[in-house]
Amino acid sequence: MLDWIENDTPSASTNATDAAASSDTGNGTADATGLGEIDRFGGRVTVSDKAMINSRADVNQLLPLKYGWAWDKYLAGCNNHWMPTEVSMQADIALWKSRDGLTDDERRMLKRNLGFFAASESLVANNIVLAIYRHLTNPECRQYLLRQAFEEAVHTHTFQYIVESLGLDEGELFNMYREVPSITDKAAWALHYTRHLDDPNFATGTPERDQDFLRDLVAFYVVFEGMWFYTGFAQILSLGRRNKMLGIAEQYQYILRDESIHLNFGIDVINQIKAENPHLWTAEFQEEIRAMLRDAAELEAAYGRDTMPNGFLGLNAQLCEQYMHFIANRRCGQLGLAPVFAEVENPFPWMSEAMDLKKEKNFFETRVIEYQNGGALSWD
Ligand SMILES: [Fe+2]
Ligand SMILES: [Fe+2]
Repeated sequence: MLDWIENDTPSASTNATDAAASSDTGNGTADATGLGEIDRFGGRVTVSDKAMINSRADVNQLLPLKYGWAWDKYLAGCNNHWMPTEVSMQADIALWKSRDGLTDDERRMLKRNLGFFAASESLVANNIVLAIYRHLTNPECRQYLLRQAFEEAVHTHTFQYIVESLGLDEGELFNMYREVPSITDKAAWALHYTRHLDDPNFATGTPERDQDFLRDLVAFYVVFEGMWFYTGFAQILSLGRRNKMLGIAEQYQYILRDESIHLNFGIDVINQIKAENPHLWTAEFQEEIRAMLRDAAELEAAYGRDTMPNGFLGLNAQLCEQYMHFIANRRCGQLGLAPVFAEVENPFPWMSEAMDLKKEKNFFETRVIEYQNGGALSWD
């Protein structure tokens, strides 16, 4: 039984024996893309040939599987299929258009939240397709990345659907990542870590470059999707708990379900690379990663003050900062690092409920079963 809730044991799937995996199997010429010349005389791929990075095993051969956790996440993602247009926006439209349905503070928070996510989903998708995919030399991980890339497209679609439904100013929303400094600062921070991976001449294979790749994975999977998105979820789900903007809250719950798998995949990838390449995980590098998580929490605190200058019932900038400290410490634990902040209580214990989708069984079951039955459809 798969379990993607927040309390998953970090790197439970990391197998110490994988540490012995060699990235040089003598199995033909290294070809990270899978589009190079076919090696007609190469031997067949065995599990021990496969590796997360710098693998010389043919990346076009999914089987034999080595990393069952990556395949399981691909299957879980497929079983979670949803589309934003299945969620009715009628009540949200009525509330948004009514004069006193939402306070000015709630409107400000909602718009900035949507603006942050609208561009961030594209940033994450571009990073997967144009940076991570090239350098992760394992077919089952790439299979998951392809599924994740589609899910990011569905998430971007969600923001298009919300803009269209509520009649929001699309230019204002999709440009916030350039025009609102507290959002720009976050996007710029993450892009700094993916910039050189985007260079067509960049290749992994030296300790420095392999660490560059790990930094990118931390910036996007652990910080962007695993920290910053979580404040955004807390903001919208908190509105939903007060019966406001329930359509958007439902869509965010689907996104949260997807993102919790993205995060867990990223953590497993990082821990697996660590296990196979222990020389990369130096004390100095660990401190650097801890500093990244600390910086990211501070950027998020500034964003919280900007989006919620006054706060509202059960949610304010100070609580969001505390939540970020709690989450940052959890992410450190999942990566095997010491916490970066003093121990704090989770100020939003109800978020674990929202994440524990087993408690949402009835809510999600119908749709999931409908999609699973889709496999039996006739396509004549
Ligand atoms: Fe997403
Ligand atoms: Fe994601």
